[in-house]
Amino acid sequence: MKVDIERAKEALLNGEVVAIPTETVYGLGGWIESPEGIQKIFLTKERPFFDPLIVHIDSIEKAKLLSSEWTEIHQVLAESCWPGPLTLIAKKASHIDSYITSGLDSVGIRCPNHPLTLKLLSLIPGGVAAPSANKFGKTSPTRFEHVEREFEGNVKILDGGPCEIGIESTVAGIENGEVKIYRPGFYTAQALSKILQDQNLNVPVLYAQSPVAPGQLKHHYMPNIPLVIIPENGTWETLKGPIEKQLEKKFSSPALWLQPENPLITSRELYEKMRSFEQQGNDIILCVQNKEWQSEDWKAIWNRLEKAKTISLI
Ligand code: TXA
Ligand code: MG
Repeated sequence: MKVDIERAKEALLNGEVVAIPTETVYGLGGWIESPEGIQKIFLTKERPFFDPLIVHIDSIEKAKLLSSEWTEIHQVLAESCWPGPLTLIAKKASHIDSYITSGLDSVGIRCPNHPLTLKLLSLIPGGVAAPSANKFGKTSPTRFEHVEREFEGNVKILDGGPCEIGIESTVAGIENGEVKIYRPGFYTAQALSKILQDQNLNVPVLYAQSPVAPGQLKHHYMPNIPLVIIPENGTWETLKGPIEKQLEKKFSSPALWLQPENPLITSRELYEKMRSFEQQGNDIILCVQNKEWQSEDWKAIWNRLEKAKTISLI
């Protein structure tokens, strides 16, 4: 149900959860100083406790209070990318509840770029922990209506309209003097590297190979109908047999999904599209691999599709 900023603030400070709009996806927020609010995030999402949460703040000053070791690299990236789709992992301050960090000694911090949420965050001391506002493992919500449907109208929502970016933030941390990207997003390794170089910080920026970030599970973002990645020249006529055999099921209404050429438009529509095929009555999604899939600008999109897929025929 819709709430305004004042009611959202009261609910958070009372230990309730509130869904908040960001430029990436909607988050399911709980006040970091309310153990009850934090518990409710996990319960509402049906999320396992080993998956740490990101804390949202509205200023670098607040971010520094959450961390016991805020480095020059953190400062430069925060100044350049915030408010925006970058989550920075930093050593945690001792007062942060270990439920938020899943017992890790680090914490994910992000300043989202959405006017309503920035206003709300300015009214909340400490910060607001928020994972994406979907049931665990499912497609992230990019519109008010998605959150409303996901939790059957039982969650308070600050309606901020459709999300601009459409996929989750880049998650980056520092390991042995190198910046490591644990989850690809709008900010690529190349983009972060340039920001650091411009400030005379010659720090390598690399994608983490193994899923060291907890919660980076193999299956994630999954729609309720099967999603199959198919080659560019694939057709339903030729693929129907092998797909039905592998999935041990018959399908009657396939949706052929071609990505737009522009990665920004593709990411903005990505989760919306995944949901709408099902709404339109399709019973399987055939996602066509495009030529660009290996380029860095498409990395985050294909990372999500790889995890959302049921099978791949590539
Ligand atoms: O764009 C976003 O980041 C959205 C919006 C709501 O801000 N939030 C989001 O949260 O995607 P969530 O919980 O779905 O994903 C957060 C990911 C986790 O899967 C985890 O891998 C990583 O961030 N993470 C959080 N804290 C971490 C930590 N201390 N160390 C390593 N990774 C961490
Ligand atoms: Mg999520």
